[in-house]
Amino acid sequence: MSRIFINYRRQDSEGYVGRLYDHLTRHFERDDIFMDVDSIEPGADFVKVLEDAVSGCDVFIAMIGPQWLSAGDDSGSRRLDQWNDFVRIEIASALQQNKLVIPVLVGQARMPAPNDLPDDLKPLARRNAIELSHNRFTYDVEKLVSAVKSALPAAKRLGDPETLSQKAAALKAIRDDLVGATHSPLYKFRTENRYFPVIGEGNPDANIMFIGESPGKYEAAEGKPFCGPSGEVLDEMLLSIGLKREDVYVTNLVLDFPGHKDLLPEEISFYAPFVDRLLDIIQPSVIAPLGRFSMEYMLKKLDLPEKRGKISQLHGKLIKAPMPYGEIHVLPLYHPAVVLYSASQKDTLRKDFQKLKLFI
Ligand code: URA
Repeated sequence: MSRIFINYRRQDSEGYVGRLYDHLTRHFERDDIFMDVDSIEPGADFVKVLEDAVSGCDVFIAMIGPQWLSAGDDSGSRRLDQWNDFVRIEIASALQQNKLVIPVLVGQARMPAPNDLPDDLKPLARRNAIELSHNRFTYDVEKLVSAVKSALPAAKRLGDPETLSQKAAALKAIRDDLVGATHSPLYKFRTENRYFPVIGEGNPDANIMFIGESPGKYEAAEGKPFCGPSGEVLDEMLLSIGLKREDVYVTNLVLDFPGHKDLLPEEISFYAPFVDRLLDIIQPSVIAPLGRFSMEYMLKKLDLPEKRGKISQLHGKLIKAPMPYGEIHVLPLYHPAVVLYSASQKDTLRKDFQKLKLFI
């Protein structure tokens, strides 16, 4: 997984990049440092390829050397002004995706002023830069390393077998409690139709936990979340980031099939404490609510400033949040059912899923 993206212009800062890369590999896995988009297939939309590459990182380093601002092509036009300039596309995309963008000044370069930059790069001028000087290179790089480290999501420790068996027992207790909850608003509907409650499925030690809305009829018939058409979309999205169901944990905000479309407030308030128990057991590093109901529930539960935001504004945004077991991220996503019939929404969901690569 590429967590650190280094953007640079060969003719401007190549020498420094090699030195920086060597230092960074003492602190980070080589696979976590991404420098060049090595191959773009013939016919591929290269802007999209670059945007996707940037979306997989959580820290974006923009190397700025003495020729960065003025470098031109053979005809003398400034490269930064060209719409197809790789350096510009990548930086603009990182800024647009709200990445942590750190300008790194080398060769005594100065930070460019907003007026020297094309519109999509102007916000770069406000980013605090780190200077890598020749004489204090190691010291300066260490400053950069600690800035990068504090921005990376914490890796989750893997549960030992004892913890895993405790988790399995706690999950079973949730199931038993729900099966016997005769006062549940959906108990009658479930038992009369011989449906199953749908607690959740996947790795009890997963780093990534998805929370959908409620099981549908397919799920209630099998007792498993997302096994109908929406589940096919979910599987496709997981596959696009190299994951399978077993790698993540999937549940819903309401754990019985309601038999109607929109969730009712009394259903949410009855089932939410079960979901809270699931969160305490799984302890994921990232919670990905699928759709507006679970997004609103999570943002309100965590009392986050975004709690009144709409899913159309918040989808794909990593939002830091405190949980009793440590800091996590919430990543609101569109519900797979919404994207079933819309190619453009599906592309958006696929792009938003890339953010989860940080937690793999
Ligand atoms: N939709 C959901 O929100 N959850 C499921 O489990 C299936 C479809």
